[in-house]
Amino acid sequence: MQLSDLFTARMREAAPPLWGPGDANGPDRIALAFGDADPTMFPHKDLIDAVAEVLATDIDGALNYGPTYPGLVRVAAERLRQRGISATEQNTLICYGSSQIIGLLPQVLIDPGDTIIVEAPTFLGAVMQFRRSGARLVGVPVDAEGMDVDALETTLAELRAAGVRPKIIYTIPTFQNPTGVTMSLERRRRLLDLAITYGVLVVEDDAYSDLRFRGDAVAPIAALDTAGWVIHLRTFSKIFAPGVRLGWASGPQALIDRLAMCKVEGGSGPLMTRVVAQFAQDGRLDTHIADLRTHYGEKCDLMLAAITREIPTATTVRPDGGFFVWLRLPPGISATALVPVAAQHGVDVLAGPRCFADGSGDEYVRLAFSYIPAAQIGEGVARLGAAIRSLALARL
Ligand SMILES: Cc1ncc(COP(=O)(O)O)c(C=O)c1O
Repeated sequence: MQLSDLFTARMREAAPPLWGPGDANGPDRIALAFGDADPTMFPHKDLIDAVAEVLATDIDGALNYGPTYPGLVRVAAERLRQRGISATEQNTLICYGSSQIIGLLPQVLIDPGDTIIVEAPTFLGAVMQFRRSGARLVGVPVDAEGMDVDALETTLAELRAAGVRPKIIYTIPTFQNPTGVTMSLERRRRLLDLAITYGVLVVEDDAYSDLRFRGDAVAPIAALDTAGWVIHLRTFSKIFAPGVRLGWASGPQALIDRLAMCKVEGGSGPLMTRVVAQFAQDGRLDTHIADLRTHYGEKCDLMLAAITREIPTATTVRPDGGFFVWLRLPPGISATALVPVAAQHGVDVLAGPRCFADGSGDEYVRLAFSYIPAAQIGEGVARLGAAIRSLALARL
């Protein structure tokens, strides 16, 4: 008898974990693989002030068990209303990062074997959590305008013909992870229409929309939804600090109520919820976001210029915001083969297949410009270019 006999069937499956050892940005190489925040942008002084203010005024609430701090629910719902989403404090749920909601959704919606539609490519953390729930993942391609809604319609029709009603369409419509592309308004409308027609929940993961460097905002899918088929996810990770582990969701009340039932830990961090709410007061958070936009926009442009200079035969779509550039490698270069060679050249990048539910996408790599200092971006891309050239030579 073995301990592993006790694991559920889906945990006994041999599916490799998507995160592995070394899946963190380390100091010894130029780290373009993961979308960590830029530590130089953490609002040190304001954060220390906010902690001191909370502890001076509400130490009992901050350090004990308790219900979710209503001050942060107000901040979260208000940020959604500013985008035209009709969120209330009742249908807004604070959580330990949007990752927690992505993990809880299958508890409410997925029986093993149920189908989830994801973008191809998509956020690898979501693939990991959905897969662990026993769901079958079906990918729909993404192009320069976001998820291909014609392909979505075909997929939905084929699934229906096979007697399958998918439970979720998971989309990152704005500054998508990993491609950086933004779904057009027309496609958002179409996606919503299709979801309603086929009776599928839309999970709109909006982790990056606050970080727009250029162009005009596009309405969230949740703002177009009057029928109650969209849950909208946001996070403080990208606009404040991932380490606070706070995000929020808003959507149909019955779904939010059931997600809340799955959260038994009490208050999602009574101290940090108060600190973030305190920081968000008096426009401090919005001022900080404005600084981040300028900063990340400059880093994005540095990376795009370096790619044109160093890897002219690669192609990419210029992102208008977010953390990532998605690179289509020069013809014949495999991302899986490139990653270890790039590491030898002193740069880490993420291989495209990590972002596809079916493991395809070997002609792509994802480059994060978010974490490393601006001064290292040119050198990081130059090292990647050298790695590509050495791999191409080795293949001759
Ligand atoms: C699209 C997307 N959703 C969710 C997350 C996770 O965010 P959080 O830190 O709130 O769990 C990330 C983080 O990389 C992301 O890229």
